[in-house]
Amino acid sequence: MKATNEDLVHAIVSLNNIKKSFNDIVAVNDVSVQIREGEFFSLLGPSGCGKTTLLRIIAGFESPETGDILINDKLVNSTPPNIRPTNMVFQNYAIFPHLNVQENVGYGLQNTKLTSKSIKNKVDEILDMVGLGGFNFRSSSALSGGQKQRVALARALILKPRVLLLDEPLSALDKNLREQMQFELRQLQKSIGITFILVTHDQTEALTMSDRIGVMFDGIVDQVATPEDIYTKPATKRVASFIGNMNFFRSNILSSTAESVRVESDLLGVLDIDKVNIFGGSKAKVSIGIRPEKFKFKKPNGGKKVKSLAGKLIQKTFLGENLLFSLDVGKKANKVYISLTPSGEGAYPKVGENVTVYYSLNDLLAYFEV
Ligand SMILES: Nc1ncnc2c1ncn2[C@@H]1O[C@H](COP(=O)(O)OP(=O)(O)OP(=O)(O)O)[C@@H](O)[C@H]1O
Ligand SMILES: [Mg+2]
Repeated sequence: MKATNEDLVHAIVSLNNIKKSFNDIVAVNDVSVQIREGEFFSLLGPSGCGKTTLLRIIAGFESPETGDILINDKLVNSTPPNIRPTNMVFQNYAIFPHLNVQENVGYGLQNTKLTSKSIKNKVDEILDMVGLGGFNFRSSSALSGGQKQRVALARALILKPRVLLLDEPLSALDKNLREQMQFELRQLQKSIGITFILVTHDQTEALTMSDRIGVMFDGIVDQVATPEDIYTKPATKRVASFIGNMNFFRSNILSSTAESVRVESDLLGVLDIDKVNIFGGSKAKVSIGIRPEKFKFKKPNGGKKVKSLAGKLIQKTFLGENLLFSLDVGKKANKVYISLTPSGEGAYPKVGENVTVYYSLNDLLAYFEV
């Protein structure tokens, strides 16, 4: 197979068949992921899926039962955390309360050959970088949540790790500050070029900040891809359900050709779905997924690819940047969700109206039932 440019990017962290259990709980189950040098990589998944465990394995705070960890092409399975070229920012910041900002940030340099003047210069430089210039002698206990977060970041960055590991570093901040810090963290990562691996259960955070995302459930990484691909081509049904909203329609498979699969569902009728939009094994049933924003009230151009669905609008919810409608399509099916970005023209159907909505066959994703 011909190597693509993407294949040629150096993997700074290489996880191969990593497994870790705690008693009878399998926290990480045969995970293989390659993280590229200089990328902002996020591990995203629901609570308890094994994100922190995997991050701690990279850092060296946990040892895997099986599998290999390579950092910068070196096998580090038995290398202690302080010898690895990684550093970790913890969710609770772990700032020393009895030390001021200067002492906290310079802590890791104290037992080195550096003079106190040169440590001070490095601390100044890194405090400027995280937006805390001049805070050197501020007591740690007099810092806000966002400032503590920056101190923790500065303390990790001053050691110039090849890889910075961040475990839900923004989860304690309020919404506005969190969004501001997401933006700053992303800028900082791009400007210093260090590989960042961020653990989060917040999909918006992962989608907005990352070059690539690994989506994890029950110890298994289902998909590693760019935010756009994770959203538009989720590889499994649970990724499709976890990221954004998705309408699902259970369907039977009628027949299959080299290019497409003919399926039938109560609601959508008989449809030919392109094989590029079909994921998973080969079973008799599939779930067809369609994002709410793919439905249109006006019939789009697209010839035979355009299909329709009729029903009664039963609910309209204003969500700020979009409007979410629920459509009662009768039969046994649940409601179908439709979302629209308001255009300001205000000519939307009203609750109670019978409407027809349109979608394109290209917008359907099908998942074989497992
Ligand atoms: N030291 C431990 N001893 C026993 N079980 C553990 C230990 N650490 C983690 N687990 C279990 O392993 C599983 C994965 O935990 P982990 O902390 O990695 O999840 P997580 O994805 O980081 O979750 P969260 O989003 O809630 O932080 C959970 O079921 C957890 O209870
Ligand atoms: Mg965790």
